[in-house]
Amino acid sequence: MGTTPRFAHVVLQTSRLPEMRDWYCTLLDGHVVFEGHGLSFVTFDEEHHRIAFMSPPVALDAKSPQAAGMHHVAYTFDSLDQLLDRYTELADKGIEPHVPIQHGVTTSLYYRDPDGNFVELQVDNFATPEQATAYMAGPEYEQDPVGPSFRPELMREARHAGTTAEELTTRTWALTTSPDLPNPLVALTS
Ligand SMILES: [Fe+2]
Repeated sequence: MGTTPRFAHVVLQTSRLPEMRDWYCTLLDGHVVFEGHGLSFVTFDEEHHRIAFMSPPVALDAKSPQAAGMHHVAYTFDSLDQLLDRYTELADKGIEPHVPIQHGVTTSLYYRDPDGNFVELQVDNFATPEQATAYMAGPEYEQDPVGPSFRPELMREARHAGTTAEELTTRTWALTTSPDLPNPLVALTS
């Protein structure tokens, strides 16, 4: 057991391949590297493909939020500003988050693709994995490992007004600015 594999790609089967491919290319600023024979391969970084779509010649059942199996795939940015910039770019194209969640360890925007799969765009709230792990071992996380929802448009405004990313990426900021939002866990399971 001397080697550790790295994560390579995700494949989704779909009956609406063109719509799904375009949606993910927009979400991830990706591009198609191969397409044909009911397949489409997309990348957004150095890997030859990070996400692919297959359209099998059989009827597929619609996804149920209550189905067992994978819930979401998460993609991370290097900074809050990058996440908020992508949020703005997507909103301008009519793609809005299904639910934003301040996990405490990450600031996360959950989107739903055209088939109903959840996709998380996030930024780490801590500079190092060790700090993040320490937070996850602490009392705030133990009491509630999901965290509250927040309003990304308010976060963007505050960031533009000069509030630091460190202050904005806390549960305290989310709860202070948007105490009225519903439990985000409901939105993730319905
Ligand atoms: Fe996640």
